Amino acid sequence: MICMSSHKSSKLSGNIVVPGDKSISHRALILGSLVTGKIKVKNLLESDDVIATLEALKKLGVKINKQKKIWEICGNGIGNLFGSNFELDMGNSGTGARLMMGIIAGSDVEATILGDESLSKRPMKRIILPLLKTGAFFDDPNVNNLPIKMRGSKIPIPIEYFSPVASAQIKSSILLAGLSSIGDTTVIEPTLSRDHTERLLNYLGAKVSTKQLPDSSWKITLKGLPILKPHNIEVPSDPSSAAFPIVASLITPNSQIKVLNVCVNKLRTGLYTSLIEMGANIKFSNTREINGEKIADISAKYSILNGIRIPKSRVASMIDEYPILSIAAIKAKGNTIMEGIEELRLKETDRISAMCKGLNSIGIQTIENKNSMVVKGKGPNCVLNGNVSIKSNLDHRIAMSFLCLGLITENPIKVENTDTINSSFPSFIEIMNNIGAKIHNV
Ligand code: S3P
Repeated sequence: MICMSSHKSSKLSGNIVVPGDKSISHRALILGSLVTGKIKVKNLLESDDVIATLEALKKLGVKINKQKKIWEICGNGIGNLFGSNFELDMGNSGTGARLMMGIIAGSDVEATILGDESLSKRPMKRIILPLLKTGAFFDDPNVNNLPIKMRGSKIPIPIEYFSPVASAQIKSSILLAGLSSIGDTTVIEPTLSRDHTERLLNYLGAKVSTKQLPDSSWKITLKGLPILKPHNIEVPSDPSSAAFPIVASLITPNSQIKVLNVCVNKLRTGLYTSLIEMGANIKFSNTREINGEKIADISAKYSILNGIRIPKSRVASMIDEYPILSIAAIKAKGNTIMEGIEELRLKETDRISAMCKGLNSIGIQTIENKNSMVVKGKGPNCVLNGNVSIKSNLDHRIAMSFLCLGLITENPIKVENTDTINSSFPSFIEIMNNIGAKIHNV
């Protein structure tokens, strides 16, 4: 078990590039496997989660190779994955597991999906229920957890599915199954979740439409059996990874950094909207577009922050950022109230409980409810003792959040089991230390 400690740091400064976006990397590999022809993928995130998806696709017979720094995928075309008795170990990756189940549901494939201790506790019924409607067969359709054995159907039924939660994993899994359907597949979600699958599908020549319904929910419709063209993909940098050095700079006096080429799709930038509302000095510049995704450089400077109320309507656009937002909230004047965040209890760990426990251990008061959380900010001049040990619970974002906090506490913060950081941001320590952070293995 690797443990790390972070130590009081004087200031953070410099220009950095964080690795490729995790969500887009999974989708680039999966959709790349379904194009008709060969594509190149640049700036793929080479993290444990994404490599799990890559290895799963290779097991299903897709040829994926790295040439210098670029990945080459020989797409099999839609509907051409087949075989049985596969064991696909998706490690810590909820996205990998749920998206692969979508692909399998629309293919002549039988496979068992496995995961690590954290992933094996996460709910899978949310995927099984819609995939059953497409005609996929599950050995035990009543289970909620991995391992799960399933068989897809070569010609799945096109479905219309009302998703009870705004989840890009649910939406994407259903759309991926629908790729090999004869007809339209529709997902209706209460608020719009990240739309990387839709954007990438349209970029590759499929037809996906999105429209808001009178009751304000969103309807996403895919035309089945598209021919996906072999267009190369460049993965922009991950806004969820950029969040760590950015919040660290906002709370560490005298800091000023710039993170380049970050994906600023508005369905991913809720954290930045919230931080700006809190008074953060954050600027977007050099805005441009690559393969259907908007990117920009993000600058951040040490700032005096105020507590705010973050509404439920913003949850989907910052679903992975509440742990690091809670760290910023410590230094804010007043309370930061996070509403409608019950989905956080179903992530790599129960993130509401993990954050409250960790914050309480360093003397920060919190209020924890079933679907909300309040951090009672101590203001910009607070002195925090630190000197605590935090368990990561196999959750990369909990680990990185507390390592960022250790940069401003009087004594180090130790985080146990930090190997998990490799699931999304393998170069976290190197990049943080390059801008002036002091984070070490212990
Ligand atoms: C993701 C969707 C989100 C997010 C996860 C990545 C994706 O999960 O938390 O880290 O790539 O589709 P949900 O769909 O469960 O909200």
